[in-house]
Amino acid sequence: MNKVDVLLGLQWGDEGKGKIVDVLTPKYDIIARFQGGPNAGHTLEFDGIKHVLHTIPSGIFRKDTLNVVGNGVVIDPVIFKKEIDALQPFNVDIKNVLLISNKAHLILPTHRLLDAASEQAKGNKKIGSTLKGIGPTYMDKTGRNGLRVGDLFSPNFQEKYYALVEKHKGMLNHYPSFEYDLSELEPAFFEGIELLKTLTTIDSEHYLNNALKEGKTILAEGAQGTLLDIDFGSYPFVTSSNTVTAGTCTGLGVAPTRIGNVLGIFKAYCTRVGSGPFPTELENEVGEKIRKHGFEFGATTGRPRRCGWIDIPALKYAIMINGVSELAMMKSDVLDSFDTIHVCTHYKIDGKIIDYLPFDINDLEIEPVYEEIKGWNCDLTKLTSYDDAPAELKAYVQYLEEKLEVPITTVSVGPDRLQTLSTKQ
Ligand code: GDP
Ligand code: IMO
Ligand code: MG
Repeated sequence: MNKVDVLLGLQWGDEGKGKIVDVLTPKYDIIARFQGGPNAGHTLEFDGIKHVLHTIPSGIFRKDTLNVVGNGVVIDPVIFKKEIDALQPFNVDIKNVLLISNKAHLILPTHRLLDAASEQAKGNKKIGSTLKGIGPTYMDKTGRNGLRVGDLFSPNFQEKYYALVEKHKGMLNHYPSFEYDLSELEPAFFEGIELLKTLTTIDSEHYLNNALKEGKTILAEGAQGTLLDIDFGSYPFVTSSNTVTAGTCTGLGVAPTRIGNVLGIFKAYCTRVGSGPFPTELENEVGEKIRKHGFEFGATTGRPRRCGWIDIPALKYAIMINGVSELAMMKSDVLDSFDTIHVCTHYKIDGKIIDYLPFDINDLEIEPVYEEIKGWNCDLTKLTSYDDAPAELKAYVQYLEEKLEVPITTVSVGPDRLQTLSTKQ
């Protein structure tokens, strides 16, 4: 029986997951999202066109591939409809190539309002949420109040919806300074619901396990990144789902013994969007240069991403938690004009040097300890073979492989599908 390969981010999201899923899709029969929702923004570029997907798996543009939105995902019918509408010019046979789990939870307009109200109330302690209603929806899931895609077909769906909305209104009363007008939001929600009902909904856990039995190949597409995981991320500045490999099991209904290769994606440097600790952050002209060259602005919210150097203790932690078997280094070209690249190998806390991620990095004064690596100082974006890569880039890759103890099999040198190099031919 086949196994499910997993692709996921090892940092704070936006590592380039969408691009690599798209590149790998021809090798798979099925691409499946297992967690998160429209807080994700996965960018794909080919034929001169840039696409940003939020809930729909990144295999959607390749012919002959099926795309599954798993039970662990939360769906906002409003955003989902917009995504589907945006696919219209590209002749995607949505009803046949996009399958949605009956068990995926729905994001209601009031979930979005609760997200906004909660963030507003937190003031300068806010998480920096994408305000897509992710936290409140997962709270209703674990609180056993949520509505699922399968409920749409129940004769008393409206009743269930209004009961939950009443509950939410009561909760919103706890934020007296938060003003809202639900009636403005509901029409788009119900339009989205009507569209969802016309799509193909399935019991995805049965579907995927049967597919494995039949010898089909499946790639699970992670959203966010390991350092945003609800259990292992920089809590409380995290998202509300398990973004790690284990999330594949619960978010798709595949057993741990059915997990195959785990491909971990990281940037040649590091970014974060939203609040929370970031030990190697560069709040100076170097950080500014990375942001400019890497066009580091959120694919979902447009917010500028915070930029910094690569962080080995954090990456090693992510590799451990996920059982990563191979690595892809993204956005190498962004460092094209740096004479020297810094790599954080250790942290200095209270004069003590450590090489691991401590319990709570929020309140600690962490000083990164850097090693300096010679930059390649040339344009990587035109490279078509890793053999032709400059010696300094190869040395950087080899240096990281030694530190991380996992092979880097892919090096990305630009946003386009074609700007992807395989290091081991
Ligand atoms: P995801 O959330 O992990 O899918 O990543 P995002 O799409 O949010 O952010 C990655 C951004 O970097 C997108 O704008 C991609 O088009 C772009 N990108 C991906 N790989 C590369 C690369 O190797 N070089 C450059 N310059 N951009 C890249
Ligand atoms: P992709 O899949 C980067 C961040 C938000 C915020 C925190 C919580 O594109 O890599 P949430 O809306 O989930 O309540 O926000 O998590 N965040 C992301 N940052 N990439 C993402 O997804 C993210 N999804 C959420 O900025 O700090
Ligand atoms: Mg993104």
